Amino acid sequence: MDIQRNADLQPFNTFHVAARAMRLARFTSATELRELLNSDELKDLPRLVVGGGSNMLFTRDWPGVVLLNAIEGIDVVEETVDHVIVRSGSGVWWHEFVAHCVGEGWGGIENMSLIPGKVGAAPMQNIGAYGVEIKDVFDHLEALRISDGEVIRFTGAECKFGYRESFFKREGKDKYIILNVAFKLAKHPELHTHYGSIQHELEKRGIEKPTIQDVSDAVIHIRRSKLPDPNVLGNAGSFFKNPVVTAELAARIKAAYPELVSFPAGEGQVKLAAGWLIEQAGWKGFREGSVGVHKDQALVLVNYGGSTGEAIYELSTRVLESVKEKFGVELEREVNII
Ligand code: EPU
Repeated sequence: MDIQRNADLQPFNTFHVAARAMRLARFTSATELRELLNSDELKDLPRLVVGGGSNMLFTRDWPGVVLLNAIEGIDVVEETVDHVIVRSGSGVWWHEFVAHCVGEGWGGIENMSLIPGKVGAAPMQNIGAYGVEIKDVFDHLEALRISDGEVIRFTGAECKFGYRESFFKREGKDKYIILNVAFKLAKHPELHTHYGSIQHELEKRGIEKPTIQDVSDAVIHIRRSKLPDPNVLGNAGSFFKNPVVTAELAARIKAAYPELVSFPAGEGQVKLAAGWLIEQAGWKGFREGSVGVHKDQALVLVNYGGSTGEAIYELSTRVLESVKEKFGVELEREVNII
């Protein structure tokens, strides 16, 4: 067991803000994780599990132990003529897993190419992109129950997936640590290219009958063209969720701003593009010192280098307040604030 003291967390968060952890340890299996959880040095400390650190903002030092997830391994647990159930260790990088599946010809997650982070975080917030979410291809997962060290299997229904939501962000928060996740992928996949920019990108490339590799390549290109690479410019992807509002409020905003970008979101509800609202509130490309709002995607807050977590958090508060004032819409942060 290798336990570091007063550890630097900057390498482990994609905002690249400075923060320290009282203790830091890495686990590569359920057995190692149990040993750490039961160790005298760590057992009574507050715990924080970190995968890729791509959806968290440290606004303070962590007064406990940071557990770095390094559970590797990808294997097939079931195969039929049409489907394969493929399981990945929760510490595998998400895009590495996607690339593996695309390479094998297994379809269903190609639209989620290049999402930062590790596999274990995917079900936590039901990651999604370009018209597909984890819940669409999820089969099951196994998680370690912290209270007694038991491994518990969860079905999709038990994960209670919603838009960037799950059981693990709500009732299950801090009670389980995800060990592996299994997805049901298709050997003869149906492609989801209806999402505007994918179709456009495929047409631009002159591709009429795309393969999952083509869709993955198109998504990678689109993401690279508008989302900053966290290795170059600190960020955590979308900082806010797209807000779901009543159809009545959406209609009122639309009357004043006919260009409002919105999508139906079930009975009497409409989802608004937060990026559009933030851009209209004048924030796109805003920079003050080392923090800013990205110039190509207003949903993304960035650290130009040397910013503190507090400064990024303060900017997010100003953005929230101005959108509330201009449109009467309450944005919600998508990133976990520590
Ligand atoms: N828009 C603007 N201005 C902006 C940004 C967006 O007007 O600065 C408009 C766009 O023109 C478009 C609409 O908003 O009409 C939607 O924009 P986009 O397709 O870029 O997607 P998004 O809703 O801003 C969501 C996810 C992203 C995901 C994309 C693509 C959330 C919070 N974000 O962003 O996920 O990649 O769709 O599917 O749902 C993430 O969660 O970290 C993430 C990057």
